[in-house]
Amino acid sequence: MAKAKARCRTRWPLRRPRILPFAVVAAAATVLALALFVLQLPLPAPVDFFSHSFSHDRSRSRSHHPYFSRPPYVPAARLEPASDICLKPTPFPFPISNIPLAASHPLTMALAAETTRVVSLFDFSDADVNAHVQEFLRQMSEGLKRDGTSISQIPTYVTGVPDGTEKGLYLAVDLGGTNFRVCSVMLNGDTTFNLTYNKVAIPKDLMVAKTSRELFAFLAKQIELFLREHHADHFESSTRRRHTASTPQGYRDEHIFRLGFTFSFPVKQLGINKGKLIRWTKGFDIPDAIGKDVCALLQAEIDRLRLPVKVAALVNDTVGTLMARSYTSTGKHRSILGGIFGTGTNGAYIEKTKNITKPIEGQYDTTTGEMVVNTEWGSFDNQLNVLPSTPWDRALDGSSVNPGIQMFEKRVSGMFLGEIVRLAVLDMMKNDEVSLFKDIDSSFNDWRTTTNISSESGVLRAWGLDSAILSVAASDNSPELSTLRQELENNLHVYNPSLEDAQSFKAVANAVVRRAARLSAVAIGAVALQSGKLDDPEEEVLDIGVDGSLVEHYPFFRDMIYEALVAVDGIGPEGAKKIRIGIAKDGSGVGAALIALVAQRMEKPGDFLADLRGDIKRSLDAMQANNAIDEPSMSTTALVVGGLIGVAAIAAIWYNRQR
Ligand code: BGC
Repeated sequence: MAKAKARCRTRWPLRRPRILPFAVVAAAATVLALALFVLQLPLPAPVDFFSHSFSHDRSRSRSHHPYFSRPPYVPAARLEPASDICLKPTPFPFPISNIPLAASHPLTMALAAETTRVVSLFDFSDADVNAHVQEFLRQMSEGLKRDGTSISQIPTYVTGVPDGTEKGLYLAVDLGGTNFRVCSVMLNGDTTFNLTYNKVAIPKDLMVAKTSRELFAFLAKQIELFLREHHADHFESSTRRRHTASTPQGYRDEHIFRLGFTFSFPVKQLGINKGKLIRWTKGFDIPDAIGKDVCALLQAEIDRLRLPVKVAALVNDTVGTLMARSYTSTGKHRSILGGIFGTGTNGAYIEKTKNITKPIEGQYDTTTGEMVVNTEWGSFDNQLNVLPSTPWDRALDGSSVNPGIQMFEKRVSGMFLGEIVRLAVLDMMKNDEVSLFKDIDSSFNDWRTTTNISSESGVLRAWGLDSAILSVAASDNSPELSTLRQELENNLHVYNPSLEDAQSFKAVANAVVRRAARLSAVAIGAVALQSGKLDDPEEEVLDIGVDGSLVEHYPFFRDMIYEALVAVDGIGPEGAKKIRIGIAKDGSGVGAALIALVAQRMEKPGDFLADLRGDIKRSLDAMQANNAIDEPSMSTTALVVGGLIGVAAIAAIWYNRQR
């Protein structure tokens, strides 16, 4: 032994210089081969098919996976502070010391007569209100029996309302008009909540995009920007975990944000997070989306960006409003209706499930015996059985993207009221007998200046009159209507309007909005009657949550609704007193979060992760199939090259030793 050792000691220094280069090459080659090989190795995973597919995910991720090759950070889209349509400009600085006060003339005869005539066309009497309520109830009942009716009466799969004790952090997005909002909502469990949101205007070209993918990709991108800005920790850690999904510390259901998707268009709901678009409204028009599941469209784009988000609930803004009102209202009276009177109009109310006699597909909780129904009342009386129709209502409908549809909405909601006023005013201007926004004789004008209208004026352009000015007209009760006249100048480029011009404009605008308020009372009154609670002595209050710029900011809009409710047979002054109409803010955020919570409670554990794994496997199988055709597999190349070098190196060592 000792001899042998001695021999070894003496031989080794002699041999080392000749063997070392080969050994180093062999070791390096082996390490290289192993390293390349190990990078392809599957991670240990509990589920067989998943471990297999995930191994490929890792290898792809080094070269092509979006997480590693994602584009540089794109700055957040322009965020606007919460804003409302109705402007309250500061009063016109009047009187100015050395300018004489304007004399207030009555309307000139022809203008006065024409204004009276136009205003009378928007009259909506108590008898009209009653006839409309009866027709509304008839169309509601028709909608509960079958599909394809004017009032769609869509079952929402929401079978209860919250009681204020719900807790948790949820995401909500809101697509329904001119803006897209992404929010995170912390429900505190004590009727309060904290809400963080970003709001971005929807680019006009996306509202009429060629494919729905363009719109939904934009929405998913906004969700990503929001998560990066407001939930960076959660976002980064979830993204990391996604790559270790199979380990015990990896991606689990609780790492995924549940998102409530407030989608405020008519959708045939097929489940709590599934629904097919029936039609677009409010100026949107992307035919390719009709009939598709909007949750799936959004989830697909979210998945493309690998966001830790599951679209858990699909919610109409009216349903969200009803939920938010129920969550925040204290006391024993639960809300029966959520209504929107803003860009569009609609209502969702609680109906007895036994009254919904048309089939309700899929699963829902039957224990409450009730379900929230999304009426889609914007399409009440599309057939014009009773709805009033002035020449300007007809002209507006003809120039809209959806003629013959949303006929109630086109007489009630903010998106359309400005255009009705514009069309009426324009016709008055075209009448040579009538001096509106033009001076026949400048002495008529109390400013002793000449009124003129710019060719750029919104009055001369279709959809150019923003409904916000209607609020200004209603709230300016000064003798000179100075605020309104300033607004006509600033926003509509009508220079030096006379008092008579402003009086006429105000009268027409008020008439159009008053008719809208009384039509709104028709919808609210009909739902109150349908609830059967007006005569129930146990029900002291019928609570109604409403949201939207009209009801929130137009002066006395709610008062005009009450005035009409008093005139409804079966409601009257006593019934109207029982009806409490309250503003429900942030319904589309808080309400959607609440429904996402309900949906989460209905999920079976692991549901989403199973879906996610299935998705990953499918996409990887597809990638693998492509790879097989397109490029030689990197692992095979690496092994062959590394292996050959290793074998050559070992052969060299062996050869040296033999020598
Ligand atoms: C849509 C409704 C929505 C309402 C208010 C209407 O145009 O059809 O789904 O609730 O606008 O946003």
